Amino acid sequence: LSPKKLVGHHVLVTAGPTFEAIDPVRGITNLSSGKMGFAIARAARDAGARVTLIAGPVHLQTPRGVQRVDVQSAQQMFDVATALVTEASIFIATAAVADWRPAQASEQKIKKDGSGEVPALTFVENPDILASIAHSRAAESGALFCVGFAAESENLLAHASAKRKRKGVPLLVGNIGPATFGQDDNALVLIDAEGHREMARASKQVLADELIADIARRVPVKG
Ligand code: C5P
Repeated sequence: LSPKKLVGHHVLVTAGPTFEAIDPVRGITNLSSGKMGFAIARAARDAGARVTLIAGPVHLQTPRGVQRVDVQSAQQMFDVATALVTEASIFIATAAVADWRPAQASEQKIKKDGSGEVPALTFVENPDILASIAHSRAAESGALFCVGFAAESENLLAHASAKRKRKGVPLLVGNIGPATFGQDDNALVLIDAEGHREMARASKQVLADELIADIARRVPVKG
């Protein structure tokens, strides 16, 4: 395989957590440094692809040559991803998207009034970015290749294979525990319709390079 195996492809990557506002100074979020997604963006760039990275709130430098769009909430990430994916041939969802958001973010800071009463939060479900894009016409016609990630706390293989089918993606990548939030290395398992293959513990950049090489074997050659 030539090192520039994704020439002619446009890869769209989501990375990092999302932040769901409760009021102007508070919110809920997920644990995610964004490192795996940024490493994948770099690997795709090195493979010759045009790369767009949609990032939630993270503290990472944009890889050179990669176009980056910053977002906060899942709804914003959904809107930007839905708009930009029309130009993409590969979509890789690594973001740790919040499943729920407060039903109504308060416009003013919620005050603690000293009575001991606590505010009650109600939640609504966020859109599932990956499932929505994976069920689009482009994905179903084969013009767009979608890849999902899964971080499970137990029964990784069973949960991740079920998730692959539910999301409607040909390839789902499981993070093999223990949780790697913020760390520079990881171990992965690649799950497709045929079965699964493990990628031994290595730096996130090495794994990203291997993953991009694997994806390149599954998509049409355009270069
Ligand atoms: O359902 P779960 O969050 O475990 O699925 C993980 C996969 O789905 C990841 O690829 C994640 O980026 C994606 N996802 C998404 N939108 C959501 C929830 C998850 O794109 N609202």
